[in-house]
Amino acid sequence: MKIVMIAGSNRRNATSTILVKAMARRLERMQAEVDLFDLAETPLPFYSPDESFASHAGVQRLNRLMLEADGIVLATPEYHGSISGVLKNALDFLGQDHFAGKPVLSVSSAGGAVGVSSLMQLQTIVRNLHGINCPEWISIGGAQRARYENPSDAALDARAEQGLEAFVELASKLSNAKVV
Ligand SMILES: Cc1cc2nc3c(=O)[nH]c(=O)nc-3n(C[C@H](O)[C@H](O)[C@H](O)COP(=O)(O)O)c2cc1C
Repeated sequence: MKIVMIAGSNRRNATSTILVKAMARRLERMQAEVDLFDLAETPLPFYSPDESFASHAGVQRLNRLMLEADGIVLATPEYHGSISGVLKNALDFLGQDHFAGKPVLSVSSAGGAVGVSSLMQLQTIVRNLHGINCPEWISIGGAQRARYENPSDAALDARAEQGLEAFVELASKLSNAKVV
């Protein structure tokens, strides 16, 4: 199973990205093939419907990975009760071809206790793209973020572990049900 994770922050050592990297290690131990698209490492140009980005290496990679994905994880810092600008911009390059019928797990990191607003916004975008929202989602907030401040060895907390397991279960059910 191919899982593509988009880390939606351009902040160095973003807790949302460190959380996603810990999730990637856990998914690999579950035998999933994982690709991380980190918007801090690969900044994308501003999307414009008037321009063709076909020769942009980052846009090409995002497009290819997302077409091949069996499941998708979207992670965002909560900014002004919503998702980050860089994640929204990346999603504007994508469409139903990349999302339709695929399970999507939403993940956020917030200054407040929990980042529900950004998770709701992400799920609305996923619904518009005809992705299948995982009923579980993962949010870290407030002091809980301390666990995800060290890039090298952050381990998932029990709540994140539970959200990830629900996502993997949904992804396996959908891939078993796929008619080829
Ligand atoms: C521009 C901006 C807007 C923010 N807005 C919110 C917000 O609406 N609610 C909230 O709980 N935290 C807010 N925060 C705090 C971030 O969500 C918090 O620092 C989060 O952990 C950032 O994620 P990161 O570690 O992945 O960068 C905001 C931070 C910034 C820079």
